[in-house]
Amino acid sequence: MLLPMVAMATEVKSPNGNVVLNFTIDDGRPTYTLFYKGKDVVRPSHLGLELAKDKHASMGMNERDLMDDFTLVKEETSTFDETWQPVWGETRDIRNHYVEYVATLLQQWRSAPPKAPSGMRLQPRQHRREILIRFRVYDDGIGFRYEFPQQPDLNYFLIKDERTEFAMAGDHTAWWLPGDYDTQEQETQETKLSEIRNRMKEAVNWDNSSVAVFSETGVQTSLQMKSDDGLYINIHEAACADYATMHLELVDAETTELTTKLMGGSNAYTPAPSTVPGGSPAGSYPLPQPFTFVSHLTPDATGLKGAMQTPCETPWRTIIVSDDARDMLSSNLILNLNEPCKLEDTSWIHPTKYCGVWWEMIVGKSSWNYTDEFPSIKLDNIDWKKVKPNGRHAANNEKVKRYIDFAAKNGLDQVLVEGWNVGWEDWANMWKRDVFDFQTPYPDFDIQMLNDYAHSKGVKILMHHETSSSTQNYERHMEKAFQLMNKYGYDAVKTGYVGDIIPRGDHHYSQSMNNHYLYVVKEAAKHHIMVNAHEATRPTGLCRTYPNLVGNESARGTEYEAFGGSRPDHTCILPFTRLQGGPMDYTPGIFVTRLNTWSDNTSWARITIAGSLALYLTMYSPLQMAADLPEHYEQFDDAFQFIRDVACDWDESIYLEAEPADYITVARKAKGTDNWFIGGKCDENGHKTNIKLDFLDKGKKYDCTIYADAKGAHYETNPQAYTITKRVVKQGDVLKLTEAPGGGFAVSLMAK
Ligand code: NOJ
Ligand code: CA
Repeated sequence: MLLPMVAMATEVKSPNGNVVLNFTIDDGRPTYTLFYKGKDVVRPSHLGLELAKDKHASMGMNERDLMDDFTLVKEETSTFDETWQPVWGETRDIRNHYVEYVATLLQQWRSAPPKAPSGMRLQPRQHRREILIRFRVYDDGIGFRYEFPQQPDLNYFLIKDERTEFAMAGDHTAWWLPGDYDTQEQETQETKLSEIRNRMKEAVNWDNSSVAVFSETGVQTSLQMKSDDGLYINIHEAACADYATMHLELVDAETTELTTKLMGGSNAYTPAPSTVPGGSPAGSYPLPQPFTFVSHLTPDATGLKGAMQTPCETPWRTIIVSDDARDMLSSNLILNLNEPCKLEDTSWIHPTKYCGVWWEMIVGKSSWNYTDEFPSIKLDNIDWKKVKPNGRHAANNEKVKRYIDFAAKNGLDQVLVEGWNVGWEDWANMWKRDVFDFQTPYPDFDIQMLNDYAHSKGVKILMHHETSSSTQNYERHMEKAFQLMNKYGYDAVKTGYVGDIIPRGDHHYSQSMNNHYLYVVKEAAKHHIMVNAHEATRPTGLCRTYPNLVGNESARGTEYEAFGGSRPDHTCILPFTRLQGGPMDYTPGIFVTRLNTWSDNTSWARITIAGSLALYLTMYSPLQMAADLPEHYEQFDDAFQFIRDVACDWDESIYLEAEPADYITVARKAKGTDNWFIGGKCDENGHKTNIKLDFLDKGKKYDCTIYADAKGAHYETNPQAYTITKRVVKQGDVLKLTEAPGGGFAVSLMAK
């Protein structure tokens, strides 16, 4: 294989020297290389952006790509070391320690003279522009981004695609999701890089309500890999704001041109063939070597991938690397690359445990909608009091009160109620703009009474705003909807973006949609409202800057246990991938896994009860749901004790063991207390572990309760077999634990 010649690279070392970055200009193209403890992580890889030259208003025919003809005009290196405290998190303190390297690059060219009227001689024009590439080199990886200062030849520009390369050093094992502009709700595939193309078709979640795959080798970030020589490598992004979400397209032996072969789903995006008058056609830049990922941004409805106004910058492209899988989970690189908190007062933001009028609807036993009377709904034309109820509407006064009582009795902070507001009769996939008004309750949901009732018991109702992806409609009603929340004392909202985006043609992860999600978070903050957005873009650490963004779904959540199920190793992968950018509202806690024992649903959750308890620790989130029905928890009240006890905000977290798709074991110290909790979750093969309690305080004694899989427990055949044992432990004691196939364990250690 011929590698590009890399001349006179600048070398930048991380604080402890384990991570080494090289940067150079290779034949006019910015090029970086990355090493970890002397091993190749990223082979020489080019950086740059292709611009939509034909669509450009101010530059027109004179525009050119930000790809080549660069010279290095300035280099600056500095060190940064600071410790900060997140509003909520896995640890009380986070150290942000890196070496920064900034390369200033100059691009100059002469444009052809415009066609002159006869007799006139026009001069060719000289163009000149500078961009910066900023690298931060940490002991566990790097982040880098492009920065665009304001200047005459770079004022507004349109992005055709970003062409950031990540040349892998071998045919790594990868845990990947198909690159898709609209959904992240797939099962993770575990294959070699060279096998991605052949696996792609079966990897796509064709059943999702909005699917747009773009390439036979396109995958999502956060992408977790493992090399044959034991390096764990993760590619993702940080601080994705006012920019499209990045996917990665793998160049393999069969690639002839980037992003030309589309897979064609029911609503898959089909771009126009790329012919760029006056500019370079698609594919005019040579393909990189096989096993190289090239960035691929999500387009908007016009096919464009970014409309930029300088001064501006891209999100950070992140590469986390270690020879110890546990470091992947404890890394704070992505949070550190985000801006510090921009909210002055954060006293109203709090970790939340909740239950909800939810699972029985997901399972299909009851409904979000109130009536079955109409073939379609026009919100203004219906007198809801006169409508015939279908008798299956779950968000009714009686049921909601029952959930409030359950929350109050069990120390849960909130009760999510979905289906409280009118419009659910034809909410999804009708490409209908005015779906909900987010203000009018169904006649059997007494909003005043129920909130008063909840508050009298020390509980809050958790608001639900399903937008069904009609974003204009949501933005129009949002202010009034938030005022309504303030009026009745709601302080958190779960939003949702099911179905194709309206305005039609746009995609869930485009620049415009990313702007929408952040707009909602910022507007919510003005009303002291916490946001948990489902189906929104996968997070990139923006919760550091806006800590009222307490959760996202943005992956395949527990709901899929009612839609056919997820593999038992799913939750041993998510912390390596989806959780890199921020917490997931996974909605754990299913105790009655066979859904046909209480409904007509034949799907089943692939987990044991002890495994379900473990998720409250291994799937970090400041927002934790107890998703099953109150009566199911009452049936297993001794196991439910763990959910009552477990914290969801932490002073310390120690990952004791981890291997992607196999097992994760973590110990966490509850914020502001001396209590510890330990959780272990494993895949379908089971797992044995010895936990040395050397992290406990010396001289202290702890009441230890162990919730473990019983002998013979199994996620498929015997999921409800668990044991609860109690003992008193101290520092240095060892816990010997066996996790069943698809199981796990949970331990509480209460300081005496
Ligand atoms: C999908 C969400 O993930 C789920 O939690 C919610 O219940 C439905 N949309 C309806 O909003
Ligand atoms: Ca979902």
